[in-house]
Amino acid sequence: VENDDIKRLIPIVNKLQDAFATMGSTPIDLPQIAVVGGQSSGKSSVLENIVGKSFLPRGSGIVTRRPLVLQLYNSIEEYGEFLHQPNKKYYDFEEICTEIERDTDRVCGSNKNLKNQPINLRIYSPDVLNLTLIDLPGATKVAVGDQPKDIGKQIRNMIMSYASKPNCLILAVTAANTDLANSDAIEIAKEVDPQGKRTLGVLTKLDLMDRGTDARGIFTGEDSNLPNLALGYVGVVNRSQADINERKGIANARAAEEQYFSMHPSYSDITDKLGTAYLVKKCSQMLLKHIQSVLPQLSSDLNKVIASKEKELCDMGEIANPKRSRADITQAILKFSDRFCRSIDGKLDPDGPSL
Ligand code: GDP
Ligand code: NA
Ligand code: MG
Repeated sequence: VENDDIKRLIPIVNKLQDAFATMGSTPIDLPQIAVVGGQSSGKSSVLENIVGKSFLPRGSGIVTRRPLVLQLYNSIEEYGEFLHQPNKKYYDFEEICTEIERDTDRVCGSNKNLKNQPINLRIYSPDVLNLTLIDLPGATKVAVGDQPKDIGKQIRNMIMSYASKPNCLILAVTAANTDLANSDAIEIAKEVDPQGKRTLGVLTKLDLMDRGTDARGIFTGEDSNLPNLALGYVGVVNRSQADINERKGIANARAAEEQYFSMHPSYSDITDKLGTAYLVKKCSQMLLKHIQSVLPQLSSDLNKVIASKEKELCDMGEIANPKRSRADITQAILKFSDRFCRSIDGKLDPDGPSL
C-alpha cells in the first residue's frame, strides 16, 4: 500500500464519521481516538497542544458537556469549520471557542446537562497531522452544587459509549501530581481494555510533581505500579493556569516543554520519547496502523451499510472479495467510502480535504 493511500485513510474515515453524524447514528465502529481522564487532569490542554491553538472553552465545573469530535487536517490554510455550519470558515480560534460554548448551550441547555450528540469540528492547519480525536467530559464521582445527582453516572456512560468500542483507541490522561493508583483514566482503560492493547497512557503536569520525585520509571517501563500498556506512556508538560492567565501562546508552551525535558536530569536522555511532538506522532501512527488492521472488517461493515442504503453502488464485490490484497482493499475502500459519503450527504464537500 502506498504511503499516500495510507495518509488518505484518515480523511476518509473522517468523512464517514461526518456522514454518520449527519445520519444521526453510527452504524459502524469507526477507528478513532478518545481522550479520557478525570476532571482537570489536562485533557483539554493536551488537545490544544496537539492542535497548536487555544480554542477550547475553559472554566470550573463541567465545561465539556457533549463529545467534541475533532478532525485535524494538514493543510496550507489555517481555519476551523463545524459540521453544523457547513459553509462557515472560522479564521479566529477564539470564535471557535465561543461557537463550541454556544452550540453546547443550544443543545444541552445552559444548565449542567449533558447530551450525547457530538459537536463535529474540523481544523485545517499546516501545524497538524491528519488525526481524529474526541474530547469527552472529565470523569467525576461526586456531584457538586446544582449538578444533577447522577452526573458521575451520566459522564461515565458517555465516556464508556466511546471507550468500550473495540475500534476506539484510548488516550488515558492522568495528572502526574495526583495519586496514580486512583487515576480515573487508568481505571476506565483497565475496564474496557484489560490487556492494555488500545490504550496510550498520557501523564500531564510532570512539572508539578513533588520535588525529588519524577515519572521516569513509568516511561522506561521500570515502574510497575501502573498497568503495562502495549502502547506505553507519554509524558507532557502543558500550560499552567498562570500561563493561560498571562495568555502564553501554545508555540511558546511547546518550546518551554521541550526545554523542560532537555534540562531535567531524569528526562534529558529520553526526550525523544516525551512531549507533545512525540505524542502527536505516536497518535498518528497508532491511528493509521489501527485503521489498516481493521480495513477488511471496516470494508465489509461498510458494504453492509452501502448495500442497505444504496443498492445502485453495485461493484462492491471488489471490496468484499477475500482473495483481494490489502492494497486492493485500500484502493477499493477509498473509492467506495468517498462515493458513499457523496451519496448520502450532498452537504459534504465532494472534493473534500486531500482527496
Ligand atoms: P481537563 O479538565 O482535563 O480538560 O483539564 P485542563 O486541560 O482544563 O487543565 C486543568 C488545569 O490544569 C488548567 O488550569 C491547566 O492550565 C492545568 N494544566 C494542565 N496540564 C498542565 C501541565 O502539564 N502543567 C501544569 N503546570 N498545569 C497544567
Ligand atoms: Na485525574
Ligand atoms: Mg476539558
